[in-house]
Amino acid sequence: MKKDVVLNPWEVSGEIDYDKLIKEFGIQPIRDLPEIFEKNILFRRKTVFAHRDIQRILEAIRDKKPFVMMTGLMPTGKFHIGHMILAQQMIFYQKLGAKIYVAVADIEAYNARAQSLEDSRKIAIEEYIKNYIALGLKPENLEIYFQSERSSDAKKANAYYRLQNLLARYANFNEFKAVYGDISPGKMLSALLQASDMLHPQLEEFEGQIPVIVPVGIDQDPHLRLARDISQRIKNPKFTQLSSTYHFFVPGLKGGKMSSSDPSSYIALTDTPEEAERKIKKYAFSGGRDTLEEHRKLGGNPDVDISFQYLKIFFEQDDKKLAKIYKDYKSGKLLSGELKQILADKLAVFLKEHQKKRKDAEKIIDKFISK
Ligand code: TRP
Repeated sequence: MKKDVVLNPWEVSGEIDYDKLIKEFGIQPIRDLPEIFEKNILFRRKTVFAHRDIQRILEAIRDKKPFVMMTGLMPTGKFHIGHMILAQQMIFYQKLGAKIYVAVADIEAYNARAQSLEDSRKIAIEEYIKNYIALGLKPENLEIYFQSERSSDAKKANAYYRLQNLLARYANFNEFKAVYGDISPGKMLSALLQASDMLHPQLEEFEGQIPVIVPVGIDQDPHLRLARDISQRIKNPKFTQLSSTYHFFVPGLKGGKMSSSDPSSYIALTDTPEEAERKIKKYAFSGGRDTLEEHRKLGGNPDVDISFQYLKIFFEQDDKKLAKIYKDYKSGKLLSGELKQILADKLAVFLKEHQKKRKDAEKIIDKFISK
């Protein structure tokens, strides 16, 4: 990997070489998924690109056996289209019949980002959970909980925090350093708490031993490696090895990372259609040529064009239409401004609809948070 690349659970920057990461981390490229996955563009277009042990989940689906999807969110800043990838996977697995567990990482945000629990709660509800609901998450078969407040049922809460503490015996300091690089007591506790997030659905107080799939961004793999290793050392309780999938980071408007701290890098789900269009026209990195003549003659490059990427990842579901846009842009028939307009129009429809649903979500938000 290039020198200026930083990639760990608490920091991501620089140009990420995903192929290299697949080798380095020892994860598998995703291929040969069943029909039902191929219908979803995140899987079909390989935005979700790699996995560990997904087979166990595919078998559960095939045999109609129960399984859990468990993931988490760090509640910082605005909810933007980059965050939709995870939300859409939650909804996908919920529709497949999985029990969904979602951890709001407020303790992690406290320790790793110096953010108060109150701020985390507010942001989690206003930005994340409300958008999950508007995107289609349902309250049935769902537990969204805060790390700082697992459950008002003492048996459940005890089991979750007990597990975090018992896991400590099976990790050692060198392993932490190797997995995380720079490590502090707060980060160490967060890592063990996240291990408990991922493993506690299998405790008898919750679902009992069961296959669990954890969809995450690639930066979270250190957490998975640690949890997987520890879980196989502890003999009582017994854990079925975790499965996981990894998705690409959605690129920011200007290229690089989409970052909640830079409004010119993201489209937020609360941006008005006009604001979104303005941002696309002003900031979206273009794979087009400098002049109209050159563009017509030489064609543009859709593979680096941000507007094309957003259409591919989210907003143009139809493969044929996407292929035509690709071809026309590459040949020079379609201009940069026209490509941006296609995206802006699609986004306008989506944002309008979504923001209506967000209003309705407000009234039912209580049903979505575990008590
Ligand atoms: N660390 C994750 C993040 O920064 C959040 C998280 C907490 C999580 N617990 C989890 C992710 C369990 C997956 C599984 O986004």
